[in-house]
Amino acid sequence: MDNRSKLMVGNWKMNGGLTANAALLAEILQGLPDVACRAAVCVPSVYLPQVGELLSGSALAWGAQDVSAHESGAYTGEVSVSMLRDMGVRYCIVGHSERRLYHAESDVVVATKAQRALAAGITPIVCVGESLAEREAGQTEAVVKRQLAAVIQANGHCISEIVLAYEPVWAIGTGLTATPEQAQLVHAVLRAQLQAASEHAERVPLLYGGSMNAANAAQLLAQPDVDGGLIGGASLKAADFLSMLKTASR
Ligand code: PGA
Repeated sequence: MDNRSKLMVGNWKMNGGLTANAALLAEILQGLPDVACRAAVCVPSVYLPQVGELLSGSALAWGAQDVSAHESGAYTGEVSVSMLRDMGVRYCIVGHSERRLYHAESDVVVATKAQRALAAGITPIVCVGESLAEREAGQTEAVVKRQLAAVIQANGHCISEIVLAYEPVWAIGTGLTATPEQAQLVHAVLRAQLQAASEHAERVPLLYGGSMNAANAAQLLAQPDVDGGLIGGASLKAADFLSMLKTASR
């Protein structure tokens, strides 16, 4: 909100490579002196050592895109919070719609992941959002409230330590963006729900995500309850990402 600097987070998804990562980050780092907002990139977990080394000591934080709901043990392919902590991550996205949809993550699993991250001192970026069918059926508010309620229930007063991202599923990677008014409406609903759960809810950054780009960022970020962005495609282009970071710095 007003006296809190914006938070802009790049979500690389399953993109990148050693050479491409180094080039992208070098270009972003060059532009960072002109950036006053908070910023981070969430990268594929195998690249966390590389990215951590390149960003160490810089103003750009790094994070993961998912974490296991389990602590340790026989969960082939999973990455635990303690492993993420070893890699120095500050943030971890949980409940991204691509995880909910393609990996059948339930509200309860997402809430458990948020809990694991918080317990390890990693800030979960909890994603909520409705599908196109849900929006058309007038269920937007009910869906995001249900998704957030599970996280509140599992995390109690610690809810004020999360970052919350509203990502309408129909706007992700589609080029369709929620209008600033549509985003603000849902953000206000989420803010009220957080406030009912914690007296410190004001400090929770509410990010908008879904085809945010250099052209539409300013209008979205001008909304009273939009505290930043979660940016997919446009975070893979240094010039675009930097331009959005500068917009968020105003
Ligand atoms: P997009 O992705 O910006 O490419 O729409 C956003 C996200 O899924 O976090």
